[in-house]
Amino acid sequence: EKGGYEHFMLKEIYEQPSVIKDTYRGRLHANEGIVQLAGVEDNLEKFLNADRIIIVACGTSWHAGLVAEYIFEEFARIPVEVEYASEFRYRNPIINKTDVVIAISQSGETADTMAAIKLAKEHGAFVFGVCNVVGSSISRETHAGAYTHAGPEIGVASTKAFTTQITVLTMIALRLAKAKGTLSSPDFHRYLQELELIPDKVKEVLETNDVAKEIAGVFKDSPNCLYLGRGYNFPVALEGALKLKEISYIHAEGYPAAEMKHGPIALIDEHMPVIVIAPKQGHYDKIVSNIQEIKSRSGKIIAVVTKGDTQVRELADYVIEIPETSDALSPLITTIPLQLLSYHIAVMRGCNVDQPRNLAKSVTVE
Ligand code: F6R
Repeated sequence: EKGGYEHFMLKEIYEQPSVIKDTYRGRLHANEGIVQLAGVEDNLEKFLNADRIIIVACGTSWHAGLVAEYIFEEFARIPVEVEYASEFRYRNPIINKTDVVIAISQSGETADTMAAIKLAKEHGAFVFGVCNVVGSSISRETHAGAYTHAGPEIGVASTKAFTTQITVLTMIALRLAKAKGTLSSPDFHRYLQELELIPDKVKEVLETNDVAKEIAGVFKDSPNCLYLGRGYNFPVALEGALKLKEISYIHAEGYPAAEMKHGPIALIDEHMPVIVIAPKQGHYDKIVSNIQEIKSRSGKIIAVVTKGDTQVRELADYVIEIPETSDALSPLITTIPLQLLSYHIAVMRGCNVDQPRNLAKSVTVE
């Protein structure tokens, strides 16, 4: 069942090139300039007339929502709010008929997300689901939707669900951008081409497994860990930290790198590992100066960098190299080494990676 892998989580990490492809197959035709999802085509007017998009989700799916916020606003110029379903449902939120609500859920059974959907429907919003499990409660409760084609995710820690959610959400944003003319034609076509290349790049970044394992060996006994990113990679920092917490039981936090100076930099000393997502595209110079700030306080730096990078390499204690892609699509690549790092740390600590303590795969109670 585990296909020769020691754990489902590792198998599922390695499935990402093929399930990302499965998720865009038949929907994305880069050479023809086509990106279409049936659930979006059938409701295109609702999306185009939306005054805003509200994304509701929990956990890792909420992180995918945050990535989508950046992508939707940049590509389609539609204002987006991302809400924890549990907060949204209980705070008497303002929901208008002209809002499109996107609910993201791997299992399609998360109780808080389900309740948020019901509330949005009561207020007359159009509710669109991004689910993995076909026929799940959320996929039935929403007005329309688009499935991720990740296949069954058995490991409690979400991996391939996250990257396929981002794939679907990116395709929706591109489809809306095309309809609205908010991306230039060359940019639109370039993103389609680049999205089609993502599975091969994920395959390439999986080859960093040995490096991730080596780094895991160095930091496995750290009681704390910080994850930093900016822009599209800020949500990836949050997701990296969540992955480490839930399977290795190491306390970890994700931060937008520039927020460090507003408090958390006080935590830095020679015992603090800081994982910095620092690809060449996207706020590179800013992140280099953030790294310098950590280095001058003796923090240990593990940096995820674009192949061939020299500037960060000089400052960092360890680097993991990833292939180049555009800033907006980079979360699909930068996430992978963080999954591997958490996996190896958890295994080395003797943790049950597929079934971490206190956690369930689908949270059907609030
Ligand atoms: C983290 C994780 C959880 C889920 C969350 C939402 O690895 O698995 O944080 O992402 O419980 O679950 P779904 O997506 O099924 O609604």
